[in-house]
Amino acid sequence: MNKAVELLYDEHEIIMDAISVAKQLGKKTEQPELYEQQVFALISFFREYADKYHHFKEEEILFPEMIKANELLESGVVMEMLDNHEDFRMLIAEIETLTKEKKYTLAQDKLEEYVEALTDHIAVENEEVFEIATTLFSEKELENIYFRFKDIDYELGENNKEGLRERLNKIKKRNEVDFITSDTK
Ligand SMILES: [Fe+2]
Ligand SMILES: [Fe+2]
Repeated sequence: MNKAVELLYDEHEIIMDAISVAKQLGKKTEQPELYEQQVFALISFFREYADKYHHFKEEEILFPEMIKANELLESGVVMEMLDNHEDFRMLIAEIETLTKEKKYTLAQDKLEEYVEALTDHIAVENEEVFEIATTLFSEKELENIYFRFKDIDYELGENNKEGLRERLNKIKKRNEVDFITSDTK
Protein backbone atom coordinates (compact mmCIF):
# COMPACT_ATOMS: atom_id res chain seq x y z
CA MET A 1 0.00 0.00 0.00
CA ASN A 2 1.35 3.45 -0.84
CA LYS A 3 1.82 6.01 1.93
CA ALA A 4 -1.01 8.33 0.82
CA VAL A 5 -3.62 5.58 0.84
CA GLU A 6 -2.13 4.09 3.99
CA LEU A 7 -2.59 7.36 5.86
CA LEU A 8 -6.30 7.52 4.95
CA TYR A 9 -6.67 3.82 5.66
CA ASP A 10 -5.19 4.25 9.15
CA GLU A 11 -7.56 7.13 9.84
CA HIS A 12 -10.44 4.85 8.79
CA GLU A 13 -9.29 2.31 11.38
CA ILE A 14 -9.47 4.92 14.14
CA ILE A 15 -12.89 6.09 12.95
CA MET A 16 -14.04 2.44 13.02
CA ASP A 17 -12.94 2.32 16.64
CA ALA A 18 -15.23 5.28 17.43
CA ILE A 19 -18.01 3.51 15.52
CA SER A 20 -17.79 0.47 17.78
CA VAL A 21 -17.99 2.73 20.87
CA ALA A 22 -21.08 4.43 19.37
CA LYS A 23 -22.81 1.08 18.85
CA GLN A 24 -22.25 0.06 22.47
CA LEU A 25 -23.75 3.30 23.74
CA GLY A 26 -27.20 1.87 22.95
CA LYS A 27 -27.04 0.05 26.28
CA LYS A 28 -26.62 3.33 28.11
CA THR A 29 -29.71 5.30 27.07
CA GLU A 30 -31.19 4.68 30.52
CA GLN A 31 -28.25 6.33 32.27
CA PRO A 32 -28.96 9.90 31.06
CA GLU A 33 -25.98 11.69 32.53
CA LEU A 34 -23.47 9.17 31.27
CA TYR A 35 -25.20 8.79 27.92
CA GLU A 36 -25.15 12.53 27.31
CA GLN A 37 -21.51 12.82 28.25
CA GLN A 38 -20.46 9.96 26.01
CA VAL A 39 -22.58 11.03 23.07
CA PHE A 40 -21.27 14.61 23.16
CA ALA A 41 -17.71 13.31 23.41
CA LEU A 42 -18.29 11.12 20.36
CA ILE A 43 -19.95 13.92 18.40
CA SER A 44 -16.94 16.10 18.98
CA PHE A 45 -14.61 13.25 17.94
CA PHE A 46 -16.54 12.66 14.70
CA ARG A 47 -16.58 16.38 13.94
CA GLU A 48 -12.95 17.02 14.79
CA TYR A 49 -11.25 13.85 13.63
CA ALA A 50 -13.52 12.23 11.02
CA ASP A 51 -14.66 15.44 9.42
CA LYS A 52 -11.86 17.99 9.92
CA TYR A 53 -8.79 15.80 9.64
CA HIS A 54 -10.07 13.01 7.43
CA HIS A 55 -12.91 14.12 5.12
CA PHE A 56 -11.06 17.34 4.53
CA LYS A 57 -8.10 15.47 2.98
CA GLU A 58 -10.43 13.60 0.66
CA GLU A 59 -12.44 16.67 -0.29
CA GLU A 60 -9.58 19.11 -0.74
CA ILE A 61 -6.91 16.84 -2.19
CA LEU A 62 -7.73 13.26 -3.14
CA PHE A 63 -11.09 13.71 -4.87
CA PRO A 64 -10.15 16.81 -6.89
CA GLU A 65 -6.96 15.05 -8.06
CA MET A 66 -8.95 11.96 -9.03
CA ILE A 67 -11.41 14.09 -11.03
CA LYS A 68 -8.51 15.85 -12.76
CA ALA A 69 -7.15 12.46 -13.80
CA ASN A 70 -10.51 11.05 -14.87
CA GLU A 71 -13.43 13.45 -15.14
CA LEU A 72 -15.99 10.63 -15.32
CA LEU A 73 -15.40 10.10 -11.60
CA GLU A 74 -16.98 13.47 -10.85
CA SER A 75 -20.47 12.20 -11.52
CA GLY A 76 -19.67 8.69 -10.27
CA VAL A 77 -18.22 7.36 -7.08
CA VAL A 78 -16.58 10.67 -6.05
CA MET A 79 -19.91 12.49 -6.16
CA GLU A 80 -21.43 9.69 -4.10
CA MET A 81 -18.67 10.04 -1.49
CA LEU A 82 -19.10 13.83 -1.31
CA ASP A 83 -22.86 13.46 -0.88
CA ASN A 84 -22.22 11.01 1.95
CA HIS A 85 -19.96 13.53 3.72
CA GLU A 86 -22.76 16.11 3.55
CA ASP A 87 -25.29 13.60 4.91
CA PHE A 88 -22.91 12.77 7.77
CA ARG A 89 -22.71 16.43 8.81
CA MET A 90 -26.49 16.66 8.86
CA LEU A 91 -26.88 13.43 10.81
CA ILE A 92 -24.37 14.57 13.44
CA ALA A 93 -26.30 17.84 13.85
CA GLU A 94 -29.54 15.87 14.29
CA ILE A 95 -27.97 13.56 16.88
CA GLU A 96 -26.75 16.61 18.78
CA THR A 97 -30.21 18.24 18.74
CA LEU A 98 -31.97 15.06 19.87
CA THR A 99 -29.48 14.60 22.71
CA LYS A 100 -29.93 18.21 23.84
CA GLU A 101 -33.69 17.60 23.82
CA LYS A 102 -32.98 14.55 26.00
CA LYS A 103 -34.59 12.20 23.47
CA TYR A 104 -31.94 9.57 24.08
CA THR A 105 -33.53 6.61 22.31
CA LEU A 106 -34.15 8.68 19.18
CA ALA A 107 -30.63 10.10 19.42
CA GLN A 108 -29.23 6.58 19.64
CA ASP A 109 -31.32 5.47 16.61
CA LYS A 110 -29.85 8.36 14.61
CA LEU A 111 -26.37 7.60 15.89
CA GLU A 112 -26.73 4.01 14.73
CA GLU A 113 -28.03 5.17 11.35
CA TYR A 114 -24.97 7.44 11.12
CA VAL A 115 -22.43 4.77 12.02
CA GLU A 116 -24.01 2.22 9.66
CA ALA A 117 -23.78 4.73 6.79
CA LEU A 118 -20.23 5.66 7.77
CA THR A 119 -19.20 1.98 7.88
CA ASP A 120 -20.57 1.45 4.35
CA HIS A 121 -18.85 4.62 3.18
CA ILE A 122 -15.50 3.51 4.57
CA ALA A 123 -15.90 0.09 2.93
CA VAL A 124 -16.53 1.69 -0.49
CA GLU A 125 -13.46 3.90 -0.07
CA ASN A 126 -11.21 1.09 1.12
CA GLU A 127 -12.31 -1.39 -1.53
CA GLU A 128 -13.10 0.84 -4.47
CA VAL A 129 -11.98 4.47 -4.24
CA PHE A 130 -8.45 3.81 -2.92
CA GLU A 131 -8.05 1.08 -5.49
CA ILE A 132 -8.94 3.53 -8.29
CA ALA A 133 -6.58 6.14 -6.82
CA THR A 134 -3.70 3.67 -6.71
CA THR A 135 -4.09 2.75 -10.38
CA LEU A 136 -4.81 6.33 -11.47
CA PHE A 137 -1.67 7.98 -10.09
CA SER A 138 2.04 7.38 -10.53
CA GLU A 139 4.30 6.73 -7.53
CA LYS A 140 5.51 10.31 -7.73
CA GLU A 141 1.96 11.71 -7.78
CA LEU A 142 0.97 9.55 -4.82
CA GLU A 143 3.97 10.78 -2.90
CA ASN A 144 2.99 14.36 -3.64
CA ILE A 145 -0.56 13.66 -2.41
CA TYR A 146 0.90 12.14 0.76
CA PHE A 147 2.92 15.28 1.49
CA ARG A 148 -0.13 17.43 0.94
CA PHE A 149 -2.04 15.25 3.41
CA LYS A 150 0.76 15.73 5.93
CA ASP A 151 0.56 19.49 5.38
CA ILE A 152 -3.11 19.37 6.42
CA ASP A 153 -2.20 17.47 9.60
CA TYR A 154 0.52 19.98 10.26
CA GLU A 155 -1.81 22.96 9.75
CA LEU A 156 -4.56 21.50 11.91
CA GLY A 157 -2.00 20.30 14.44
CA GLU A 158 -0.29 16.90 14.73
CA ASN A 159 -0.50 17.11 18.52
CA ASN A 160 -4.17 17.87 18.41
CA LYS A 161 -4.66 14.85 16.13
CA GLU A 162 -2.86 12.64 18.63
CA GLY A 163 -4.87 14.24 21.44
CA LEU A 164 -8.10 13.27 19.69
CA ARG A 165 -6.92 9.65 19.53
CA GLU A 166 -6.16 9.72 23.24
CA ARG A 167 -9.55 11.23 23.97
CA LEU A 168 -11.19 8.45 22.00
CA ASN A 169 -9.32 5.88 24.08
CA LYS A 170 -10.63 7.54 27.22
CA ILE A 171 -14.21 7.45 25.92
CA LYS A 172 -13.68 3.79 25.09
CA LYS A 173 -12.30 2.95 28.55
CA ARG A 174 -15.08 4.87 30.26
CA ASN A 175 -17.58 2.80 28.29
CA GLU A 176 -15.92 -0.49 29.24
CA VAL A 177 -15.59 0.41 32.93
CA ASP A 178 -19.20 1.47 33.17
CA PHE A 179 -20.30 -1.75 31.56
CA ILE A 180 -18.42 -3.72 34.16
CA THR A 181 -19.91 -1.74 37.07
CA SER A 182 -23.45 -1.80 35.67
CA ASP A 183 -23.17 -5.54 34.90
CA THR A 184 -22.13 -6.39 38.44
CA LYS A 185 -24.89 -4.35 40.09
FE1 LIG B 1 -14.99 9.82 2.73
FE1 LIG C 1 -12.57 8.21 4.16
